[in-house]
Amino acid sequence: MDVYIGPWVPPSMRIGVVGAGVMGRNHARVVHQSRNTLIGIVDPVLEGAREVARLHGTEAYGSLEELLDGPVAPEAVIVATPTETHGDLVLRALDAGLHVLVEKPIATDIPTARRMVDAAKDARRTLAVGHIERHNPVVAFAKKALAEGRFGKPITLSTRRVSNLPGRIRDVGCVLDIGIHDIDVLDHLAGGPPKRVFSVGGNHAAKGGLEDHANLLLDYGHVKGAVEVNWLTPRKVRKLALTCDEAFVECDYIEQVAEVSRTTFGALDPGDLYQVPVQTHLERIELIKEEPLRRELDDFVDACASGRPALADGEVGLQALAVAFAALRSLSSGRPEEPELLEVA
Ligand SMILES: NC(=O)c1ccc[n+]([C@@H]2O[C@H](COP(=O)([O-])OP(=O)(O)OC[C@H]3O[C@@H](n4cnc5c(N)ncnc54)[C@H](O)[C@@H]3O)[C@@H](O)[C@H]2O)c1
Repeated sequence: MDVYIGPWVPPSMRIGVVGAGVMGRNHARVVHQSRNTLIGIVDPVLEGAREVARLHGTEAYGSLEELLDGPVAPEAVIVATPTETHGDLVLRALDAGLHVLVEKPIATDIPTARRMVDAAKDARRTLAVGHIERHNPVVAFAKKALAEGRFGKPITLSTRRVSNLPGRIRDVGCVLDIGIHDIDVLDHLAGGPPKRVFSVGGNHAAKGGLEDHANLLLDYGHVKGAVEVNWLTPRKVRKLALTCDEAFVECDYIEQVAEVSRTTFGALDPGDLYQVPVQTHLERIELIKEEPLRRELDDFVDACASGRPALADGEVGLQALAVAFAALRSLSSGRPEEPELLEVA
C-alpha cells in the first residue's frame, strides 16, 4: 500500500457564489485567489453576475437551480444575498447535497435559523456562518492567550464598533447589521452565550426609525461584556479590549495589532507616600496580517473535507442571532432580557 508522506495539501472544492453584491464580490475574489475552483456566480440581476463572472473567468447564472444544472456540479456554495433570503437558499442548497457558508446574520428569525441548522445535520453537510471576526488573527490571538492564562483571569471584555451612517441601510438596524459581529466575538472569548443582556440606544438619524446607536451589557457570569455600536461616528473604529487581573489588552481588528499593558508596583517609600512607584510596561504585538475572509474560506473548506464543525458553524450563528434579538428586546423593554437559546435537535 502506497503511503503519501509529502507536505499537507489543503483540500480544494468546486464552489459557487450566490449573490453578486458587496460581499459576494469579495467572496468570489477570495475563492478565485485560493486553490478552490470558482464554478459560477448566481444573481437574478444577471448583469451583476456576468460582471463578476467575467472578472474571475467563470460562468454567470440567474438562479441556484441554473447553477446546479450547469456543466460543472458544485460541492459547496457561499450565500451572500440579503438576509431575508438566506433561509430559503440555504435549505435548497442543503437539499441538493451541498455544503454551505452563509453570510451573517444566519437568518431573520430563530425558527428559520434552527431549521437551517437541523437540515445541515440531517444532510450531514457543513453549515458555516460569516462571523468573519472569529477568523481575524487578533481575535485568534486573544482567544489563545486567554486560554493559556497569559493575562490572568479575564474580568471584562468590551468592544467599540462605530462608523459613519452606511451609504445604503438594509432592513435591519446597527445591532443586527454590525453589532452581531462583536456579540459573536465576546461569546467566542467567553466560551458560550450570556445569561442575560441589557441594552440602551435608539434612533438618532437613520431612516425608518432603525436603531443607529446601542450599548449592550452582556452578563456571562464569570466575565462581563460590553458592546458599543453606532453609525453616528465620523471615523471607523473597530476595537476589542480585555481587562484581566494581570494585564489590559487593547486589540485593533483593522490593524490586527494587540497592545498589552501591565503595571508593576515598586516598594513604597514610607518617607514619601505621595510617590507610589508604579511602572507600566506596554508590549505591542503586530500579528502577521491575514485577510479574515480568506481564513474563513480555508476553515470552511477544511471543515467540509474533515467533517469537523466550522469555527463559526450553524449553532454559533443561531446563538449570535438569539443574543442579538435579546439585545433588541431589551432596547424596547428597558429591562435585562435572556437569550432564547433552544437546544438544537
Ligand atoms: N461579514 C461581513 O462583514 C458582512 C458585510 C456586509 C454584508 N454582510 C452580509 O452579507 C449579505 C449580503 O450583503 P451585501 O452587502 O453583499 O448586499 P448587496 O445588496 O450588496 O448584495 C446582495 C446581492 O444578492 C442578490 N440576490 C438577491 N436575491 C438573490 C437570490 N435569491 N439569489 C441570488 N442572488 C440574490 C442581489 O441581487 C444583490 O446583488 C447580508 O446578509 C449581509 O448582512 C456581511
